[in-house]
Amino acid sequence: MENFDLIVIGGGPAGYLAAERAGHAGLKTLVIEKRAFGGVCLNEGCVPSKTFLNSAKVLDYANHAANYGVKVEGKNSIDQKFVVERKNGVVKMLVNGVKATLKRNHVNIKEGEAYIEGKVEGGYSIKVGEEKFVGARLIISTGSMPVVPPIPGLRENLETGVVLTNREILDLTEIPKKLVVIGGGVIGLEMASYFSSVGSEVTVVEMLNKIAGPTEAEISSILQKTLEKKGVKFCLGCKVTGVEKDGVIFEKDGKTEKVPADKILCSIGRRAVTQGFGLENIGVNLERGAIVTDDCMRTNVANVYATGDVNGKVMLAHTAYRESEVAVNNILGKKDRMRYNVIPSVIYTNPEVGSVGETEESAKAKGLDVKTVNIPLTYSGRYIAENTDLSGICKLVVNKKTNTLIGAHIIGSYSGEYIVAVSAMIDLEVDIENIKKLVFPHPTVCEIVREAIFQI
Ligand code: NAI
Repeated sequence: MENFDLIVIGGGPAGYLAAERAGHAGLKTLVIEKRAFGGVCLNEGCVPSKTFLNSAKVLDYANHAANYGVKVEGKNSIDQKFVVERKNGVVKMLVNGVKATLKRNHVNIKEGEAYIEGKVEGGYSIKVGEEKFVGARLIISTGSMPVVPPIPGLRENLETGVVLTNREILDLTEIPKKLVVIGGGVIGLEMASYFSSVGSEVTVVEMLNKIAGPTEAEISSILQKTLEKKGVKFCLGCKVTGVEKDGVIFEKDGKTEKVPADKILCSIGRRAVTQGFGLENIGVNLERGAIVTDDCMRTNVANVYATGDVNGKVMLAHTAYRESEVAVNNILGKKDRMRYNVIPSVIYTNPEVGSVGETEESAKAKGLDVKTVNIPLTYSGRYIAENTDLSGICKLVVNKKTNTLIGAHIIGSYSGEYIVAVSAMIDLEVDIENIKKLVFPHPTVCEIVREAIFQI
């Protein structure tokens, strides 16, 4: 039995970053992972889906090459087997990178399933197979898994491989002729964007009357129209009531319809993983299936922290990174608190969406007095030079009282990359007059933010 200052359960973005920071700060740290370092993000989520989407972008460009004066001979098509192999190569490289970084920071790595046995002298006893470890503190970063609701036929067809989750769809080596996506959220839209680009007939069945959940309404409407132009069909306000091996049954306005499918993606959200590893043995509080944490990432149990999807707050890898830093800083006795109001989010469809902070609607609901500005991305020279679909927009939300930015919502190329600049302006509460004095490189698409600022 070996003692550690900190044991981290889970080696996804939350877990590996916590371990890395703790090891770097000199804590004797052990991180335990049962499946693959890098977690869902690196192995079957953020990163692999981006390799897919980049292949689709290359194909989209090739198909529209003539618009840019480029002659491409013959018919362009996707080699899906190659796309999957390339994705596996990218994942392997990054997973090895995570392990190497952990080792460089003197973190002990254990591959296996952790089980919390209970409180013992000196901390908490953790079992991995036959081995036992004691951690003076624990960080729980066990992540999340796809929600599979009790819709008739869903589970059975998941077992036969007709229904897929984010995990299986990223290993598909053949393009389905007809793909039905249940849920028009982030995963559903990214996969709809990819599979429509590479030749599937895609239908998205979404319960709400808009796609992309909390995304600003006009942006989600532009995204929907752009995807429709690519051939994606949307059934909005449609509740899925059944799944069969050749299609999805849904209800709309009291009527039942069926949309045919060869493959079905189930992407209706994720839930925290809190069962099966002994959390109950130390009495950690859960609420709606997720671990309850305060803004220092502490649970109700002394010296036990929870970071990443398992606390159910904002299920994004970059939120997890920051939460883990907050947890480790608190362990080290440094003051640090998690704030959730300036977390950027990106949808990597083509075109991509970058947003951060309040929408006009959410700001007004909070009683804030706001001004908004909404300009087309065609104010940017680089945007026009590089695109033929010119439907992108940039919306900013300003708090009149403080004269600071509180929200930005952009659809168009690179928005996912430069949204962080706006996040910084919001986070640091920079006065609009001071933002006007910042110099942006020209010509760039991010100049749109400067243009919009001057129109406030
Ligand atoms: P989501 O919560 O984004 O979207 C789920 C959608 O399914 C919602 O619009 C909901 O109204 C709909 N829905 C629920 N039940 C339904 C039913 N019976 N019939 C039809 N529609 C139904 O969940 P998603 O897309 O599965 O993503 C899971 C998590 O992964 C999210 O927290 C997301 O933020 C994260 N993620 C983030 C990405 C990014 O940042 N680019 C990429 C992929 C995932």
